[in-house]
Amino acid sequence: MAGGVYIDDTGVKHYEARVTFFVLVTCMVAATGGLIFGYDLGISGGVTSMEEFLKLFFPSVYKNQKNKTGHENNWCKFDSQLLTLFTSSLYLAALVASFFASAMTRKFGRRLSMLLGGFIFFLGAIINGAARNIEMLIVGRVLLGVGVGFANQSVPVYLSEMAPAKLRGALNIGFQMAITIGILIANLVNYGSNKIKGGWGWRLSLGLAAVPATIMTVGSFFLPDTPNSLIDRGHTDRAKKMLQKIRGTNNVDEEFEDLVSASEAAKEVKHPWRNITKRRYRPQLAITFLIPFFQQLTGINVIMFYAPVLFKTIGFGDDASLMSAVITGGVNVLATFVSVFSVDRFGRRVLFLEGGVQMVVSQIAVGVILGLKFGTDGEGSLSKGYADFVLFLICAYVAAFAWSWGPLGWLVPSEICPLEIRSAGQAINVSVNMFFTFIIAQLFLSMLCHMKFGLFFFFAAFVVTMTIFIFYFLPETKSVPIEEMNRAWKAHWFWGKYIPSDAVHGHGHCSPNV
Ligand code: BGC
Repeated sequence: MAGGVYIDDTGVKHYEARVTFFVLVTCMVAATGGLIFGYDLGISGGVTSMEEFLKLFFPSVYKNQKNKTGHENNWCKFDSQLLTLFTSSLYLAALVASFFASAMTRKFGRRLSMLLGGFIFFLGAIINGAARNIEMLIVGRVLLGVGVGFANQSVPVYLSEMAPAKLRGALNIGFQMAITIGILIANLVNYGSNKIKGGWGWRLSLGLAAVPATIMTVGSFFLPDTPNSLIDRGHTDRAKKMLQKIRGTNNVDEEFEDLVSASEAAKEVKHPWRNITKRRYRPQLAITFLIPFFQQLTGINVIMFYAPVLFKTIGFGDDASLMSAVITGGVNVLATFVSVFSVDRFGRRVLFLEGGVQMVVSQIAVGVILGLKFGTDGEGSLSKGYADFVLFLICAYVAAFAWSWGPLGWLVPSEICPLEIRSAGQAINVSVNMFFTFIIAQLFLSMLCHMKFGLFFFFAAFVVTMTIFIFYFLPETKSVPIEEMNRAWKAHWFWGKYIPSDAVHGHGHCSPNV
């Protein structure tokens, strides 16, 4: 292979690269960034349903919950704006932080962003574990959010840049895998800490977030920076040595040259934000906004944040509700493997469409059962058989999400943009995701109180809409080389007219450059 590259029959470039132990270890360490995000997503639901935690910080919610008059309204017993602010403040902080993080990641490298993110997250975990009042709780949450903002901005970019091209997809879904493992660990921790006598279990749950934070901080201290980032910051010699090390060969000239020109091309684009609003980028603009919006409007985070609250509402006891959250957490991890193994075989659209239908069916079934059993006044209870059936339906829903909108919500926006707008596209994806995560977290409990079982129909209606959207508006991107993505858009019945003919001839560069 001259220069470390060969071109196959279809004209696609393949660089010479071994999957080195070094690259696997660095990527595993970097993926711990997904772990801290997941731990956050999973921990708050269990904590906000712990009595001692409520007694200390949210006494009115606690009183409401205890006030069993015999006519209590199940739908509203957890409705408190303050309680939701505890959960959602993190995502608002992450949204704001991701803008700063993107500048920092570009100027000082991915590694430093991860290091800083891990450290700020660590501080947040300690303040939360030691909290004496609601202010400390919120400050801790905001710091965690800043940590997540930095991690989510830098980790996926780091993984994409380190990974050899043929493994890039798998390593992207590795990030989602780390998120789901983080959620599961959080659920398990909650299950255990809820059993602690003496009322300090919630401190353990919140404080243990320091563990993944420490792993991430110490890990990124030892991580090397990516060749792309080193080139961008003028360290060309170090960049070449690093590329040789991670590819396990000295034969990296061609890939190295491509990285250098990708970096030069990206530097020429002065206004990526103005660029992405041009007509020729309309499909990418629409998709990078709509995919994260739809991902959150599946309602998944109602389950991730509030599963224990929801299961309590449905009539499971304290223990059983946390246990059910553990079950859904386990299903979430296992079902993610399905996407790892099928996304390049069957394609993105099949997963999106199958997942969408499965989600709608389970949401409607849950809505109907809860509507029949609780009605609008929220009085009543579920028999064990019905409660188990509802748990089964929720697992079917989580599994469908975990092999469709979960991983694809991060994968698709990152693979559809040409280099000159990739950084802007990614920033839109992350910030829209965080914004709607915030909205759902903030509004869910009062939506449950007002819309009652109708909430499940509300999300189901969105899933119907997004499934139809995918059917008509998302071209299949499976095995389309990233730099030839314009061919897929040009061939599309609707988006084709936006793509000028000159956009489909040239070969761009495929290294993400943020
Ligand atoms: C989403 C999160 C969600 C998680 C569930 C991620 O892809 O962005 O909002 O909580 O999946 O596994």
